[in-house]
Amino acid sequence: MQAQAQFQAEATYLNTATVGLACDAAINALQDDLAKWRSGNVDAFHYDNLIAECRVSYGSLINAQLDRVAILSQVSVGTGVAATLLQSGDEVLLAEEDFTSVLFPLLQTADRGVRVRTAPLNRIIDQIGPSTTMVAVSSVQSADGRVIDLDRLASTAKSNNTLTLVDLTQSASWLACNADDFSITVCGAYKWLCSPRGSGFMTVQPEVADQMTAISSGWYAGEKPWESIASAGQERPPFRPVPGLVSLGGGRARPRFALRAWADSDWQAQRWFGQPLPSRIWPRTIQLGHRGH
Ligand SMILES: Cc1ncc(COP(=O)(O)O)c(C=O)c1O
Repeated sequence: MQAQAQFQAEATYLNTATVGLACDAAINALQDDLAKWRSGNVDAFHYDNLIAECRVSYGSLINAQLDRVAILSQVSVGTGVAATLLQSGDEVLLAEEDFTSVLFPLLQTADRGVRVRTAPLNRIIDQIGPSTTMVAVSSVQSADGRVIDLDRLASTAKSNNTLTLVDLTQSASWLACNADDFSITVCGAYKWLCSPRGSGFMTVQPEVADQMTAISSGWYAGEKPWESIASAGQERPPFRPVPGLVSLGGGRARPRFALRAWADSDWQAQRWFGQPLPSRIWPRTIQLGHRGH
């Protein structure tokens, strides 16, 4: 199988939930880039094309429109930007077992008067009500592999007029998803997407983007980033607050993701490789680990 041949683990590798396994395409691209960096041959503009390709590939994996896909350096940066949607008196609902890059930025909104509620994962959808401004949850729990019913989450939130933030880090590539059903999605690419650390994605529905404050915008969030690098002092900074957004914080990750390889390879093989593990086994795989996390 084409995708399987991309992986050279010396033993059966079960620790993708903690640290993804690099595939040959990613390693080759990184080495090529490092060689160019070392020899002073980096063409900075070339990265624009790679980023554009990655956004298209990622968007097709999660069924999101291209102009909704932003690049991220870290999931918590995206969650922090999403937290700007919440005002004093609003209610945010979280799963108490969730990963802290989802929880921490939203828990902190309590300091400015947001009502933070937590519920066990298996009850979180039922806890969404008319007073819930936002629900934030991972599609798959990193601690034990439990999967949330994304369709029921989307429909329950919609009927209560509740914003949704879904962290796709543990599912993007192997679990079907319609990202456009959710107000916001965030995803770290260094696990199931076989990419280097410091790479990730965010999607935002346009009407939600209008309400967000792009608190982490870096130079690459410029409408024409190469022209606006030194535009300080203009009355209104020329950044894209979100879509046709490209960057939502942290500047550009080292951009040769493995996503092009994913997009090119055979989907059936990817599904085979990414079979979800039963939640009984998932935590065990994290404990067993693999050298050196
Ligand atoms: C569900 C989930 N979200 C996010 C992350 C990574 O978050 P960050 O990019 O903020 O380090 C992980 C890492 O284990 C995770 O499991």
